Amino acid sequence: MARRINCIGILTSGGDAPGMNAAIRAVTRTAIFNGLKVKGIYRGYKGLITNEIKDFKTENVSNIVQQGGTILKTARCPEFKTEEGRAEAWKNICDHEIDALIVIGGDGSLSGARLLAQEFDMPCIGIPATIDNDLYGTDTTLGYDTALNTIVETVDKIRDTANSHERIFFVEVMGRDAGFLALNSAIASGAEAAIIPEHLTQEDQLAVFIQNGMRKSKNSSIVLVSENPELGGAMHYAERVRNEFPQFDVRVSILGHMQRGGRPTAHDRIIAGRMGAASIEALLDGQRNVMIGIRNDEIVYVPFNTAIKKDKPIDNHLMNVLHMLSI
Ligand code: ADP
Ligand code: F6P
Repeated sequence: MARRINCIGILTSGGDAPGMNAAIRAVTRTAIFNGLKVKGIYRGYKGLITNEIKDFKTENVSNIVQQGGTILKTARCPEFKTEEGRAEAWKNICDHEIDALIVIGGDGSLSGARLLAQEFDMPCIGIPATIDNDLYGTDTTLGYDTALNTIVETVDKIRDTANSHERIFFVEVMGRDAGFLALNSAIASGAEAAIIPEHLTQEDQLAVFIQNGMRKSKNSSIVLVSENPELGGAMHYAERVRNEFPQFDVRVSILGHMQRGGRPTAHDRIIAGRMGAASIEALLDGQRNVMIGIRNDEIVYVPFNTAIKKDKPIDNHLMNVLHMLSI
């Protein structure tokens, strides 16, 4: 028989994402609505180990639905990857009489939850939150839509100056392993090309951009590039163009962590509300060790193993769409 759940713990972990606060609010209020106690765990798995755990009431989550970042703070915690670290976390979980854990984060955070579930038979539910959108089994993750909108707003501004100076811009965005941000923001901002990690080994994406005509019918060009610490990202491609085509005026913009901040879009707030509520409903329904996802606008439950282990494929047709729309 599954043990009765009276009290849930909630934490945010890994890279923050807009919409995490809206999810904390939804989880807390749905839990209280259903008669459960709630404990807020600060600084992700670090707070589980260092015992930074507080009772959460409905007032603790007032006026946060619109705020970026996470009121619970977040951290990367290498100690949690060790057995000793997780044993310490488990001791604090027991001391606080936490019966189940809601983990809001990316694939690393869900890997931690999966281990906790395996080793201590702890019921865990994951809520996918990362601007990278790289979790398998859900159409979208919390924060992705907001980051996309932030990028598009910025690229629109870059286009004004690029046009005025007739320049080629390489704009670097986040997502070292996933090109969702680069490709979709390229389509949304009318960029000329996107260079994404999924195609790195298949072709020289810069050569394709050059072949397709760098300037086309316009007097500026914008290429969205996914960050790539090994290759050098946007800088690397700009340097290549500067060397091969000295007649062009080339600039680089690295958008950086501004992509992770800001007020969540209505879309991110709504999915945070739906996923947060679904996480508690799933627990009360006897579901264990699944990530809440949204597919075709419906809530789905994705086993941790599937969500973490499988790579989320990029829709290659979108690259053709970008190509056709940028002539
Ligand atoms: P994200 O959740 O955004 O992918 P990270 O990969 O940095 O972010 O993971 C966040 C935290 O989750 C790590 O600092 C660590 O505490 C925990 N974690 C990640 N991977 C594992 C793992 N394999 N085993 C245990 N804990 C993990
Ligand atoms: O996973 C989210 C993410 O923003 C990635 O896109 C990026 O590579 C990474 O986190 C940056 O992490 P940090 O905040 O440690 O610089």
